[in-house]
Amino acid sequence: MNKVLTTLVTTVALCTPLALSAQDKNFRVGLITPPVHVWNKQVDAMGETLSEASDGRLSVTAFPSGQLGNEGTMLQQLQTGALDMAWLTTAGLTLRVPDMSALHAPFLVDNIADAAKVLRSDEAIEILDALPAATGTVGLCYAMTGMRQIMTKDPIASAQDLDGLRFRITPAPPIQTFFEMFGAAPAPMPLTQVYDALANGQIDAIDMDHESILNFGYHDHAPHLLETNHQLFGMVALVSGRVWAKLSEEDQGIVRAAAQKHCDATIDSFVEGEAGKLEKLKAIDGVSVTEDVSQEFFGDIVERWDADWAEKTPYVAKLRALTASF
Ligand code: BEZ
Repeated sequence: MNKVLTTLVTTVALCTPLALSAQDKNFRVGLITPPVHVWNKQVDAMGETLSEASDGRLSVTAFPSGQLGNEGTMLQQLQTGALDMAWLTTAGLTLRVPDMSALHAPFLVDNIADAAKVLRSDEAIEILDALPAATGTVGLCYAMTGMRQIMTKDPIASAQDLDGLRFRITPAPPIQTFFEMFGAAPAPMPLTQVYDALANGQIDAIDMDHESILNFGYHDHAPHLLETNHQLFGMVALVSGRVWAKLSEEDQGIVRAAAQKHCDATIDSFVEGEAGKLEKLKAIDGVSVTEDVSQEFFGDIVERWDADWAEKTPYVAKLRALTASF
């Protein structure tokens, strides 16, 4: 091989992987939710947006239903760069980012439109700044699933009836505090295990949102719905910090804009769809719905929860002040 050709081959060999990684990227995105969930549909749509904005260079492959493990496992994979992106619950981040617990303050808002305002607020967005140091990820934007409700196997007439119930909760300290405070026995468990745990009698009740109740059919085994709206339930679109650092500035901009577009579409979809989902649940044979269960039903739990968590994060006071201004 002559010298010019050797130099050319060496240059191509050295430059090709670098050029490819700088220009073409298929983002592997992990989710705990099943393909029918709004999040999954928006992740697929985000793939199309990325592809259009990058002339086909950037794309998405989604891994739904906890295929890559539960949220804690996905967070570790993001940290090492084994996973590129994930749409994870704010609950799943609270262990590493205590400030995020404030988003789970009980009765921070009492309707989904106000939940959307909280998630779009400067105060909430500020919390994302802690993610790189605490988790090795970059938080691109928030979205949500619906407001949290309570579903039980047996009818519930008063807060005393909740006493001692084995309650499935999303694993997260601020949620655990709330359920412990009204005397339940919280059973932290990933979304993927909830249906079977209800079916086999391992748990008596669940903390859940309309979308997931409909998607999984939890009413098969827990037909009594208490419409409490006791908590908003956020999601963060995350990208691995290691993966982010390898993207060009231009691609970071494209990814940020695409994620924001589909976070916004997700929030809008939940705000618009919440009431209709409740109507669907009410129309299901055998489902009983107790509407308008207010904060008073839980006695002084909000004050007690705030007293406990305000010591752990200043965002409890910041977010309470914010929602008081709505
Ligand atoms: C849950 O853990 O309850 C949950 C997680 C993601 C979406 C909806 C619900």
